[in-house]
Amino acid sequence: MILIDGKATSEKIRSEIAVAMQQRKAEGKKIPHLAAVIVGNNGASQTYVNSKVKACELVGFTSSLIELPESVTEGELLEKIDELNKNNEIDGFIVQLPLPQHIDEQKVILSIDPNKDVDGFHPVNVGKMTLELPTLLPATPFGIMELLERYQIKTAGKNVVVVGRSNIVGRPMSILLSQKRKVGDATVILTHSKTKDLSNYTKQADIIIAALGKPEFLTGDMVKEGVVIIDVGITRIEDLSKKSGYKIVGDVHFESVSPKASYYTPVPGGVGPMTIAMLLKNTLIACDLEK
Ligand code: GUN
Repeated sequence: MILIDGKATSEKIRSEIAVAMQQRKAEGKKIPHLAAVIVGNNGASQTYVNSKVKACELVGFTSSLIELPESVTEGELLEKIDELNKNNEIDGFIVQLPLPQHIDEQKVILSIDPNKDVDGFHPVNVGKMTLELPTLLPATPFGIMELLERYQIKTAGKNVVVVGRSNIVGRPMSILLSQKRKVGDATVILTHSKTKDLSNYTKQADIIIAALGKPEFLTGDMVKEGVVIIDVGITRIEDLSKKSGYKIVGDVHFESVSPKASYYTPVPGGVGPMTIAMLLKNTLIACDLEK
């Protein structure tokens, strides 16, 4: 079994971006500027956003962190987004999800300028992705495509089972892998919480993308020998043997599944680090788009 090293791959991508930055500077091109908006004080979201901002600094991008209180109104948030849309200095921005209950997430996503939507969540970008037109791809699926490509994992004609239909991971992943792309041409089945007899599907899968958000859900008896496992889950569970009192696990039960797998993205250190690297890549792409 080969462990797919997302940390090393993401570092490689970051150094590629740093090289591209040197060239941009030499050519006098604009330095990419990413802004991140965070609402409230959800601990996990704060950690993610801080990592995104820090990653920008490390590759030489400019970054801005916009922190809004939990009590911000939908109107105030939309005003902030309008400002970012109009600010020529900002090349791309993200609004970290989830948002508080009183704010309509879809309305917020719709208000983002598609050419600054480095998360690839706006319907214009989702539509372009679906039609195989060049666009900003959502960072986690983009990162998974990059891992499959760099590890030369064949997808053409393979049976792929995606578990979970979220707009951020499961659904875009199912669309991308079914397309005529370098990484694509797969036969894709998108499964979800209402799927009957999930095992019947996962046991047929050459590649499983687990993105349902249930810790250690997929077990060894549900997969076939030689399966490629892409584990997108990331959950903290109690572990009193650790100093911190918790450990991070994926949606796949490592101990029972890894002996049967040919490739495996571990948690942590697999898909996770790739998300930020691809966000940087999208920011670089957005910087050169007409706004
Ligand atoms: N919340 C969880 N993942 C993401 C992501 O990729 N982008 C944003 N904006 N919020 C998220």
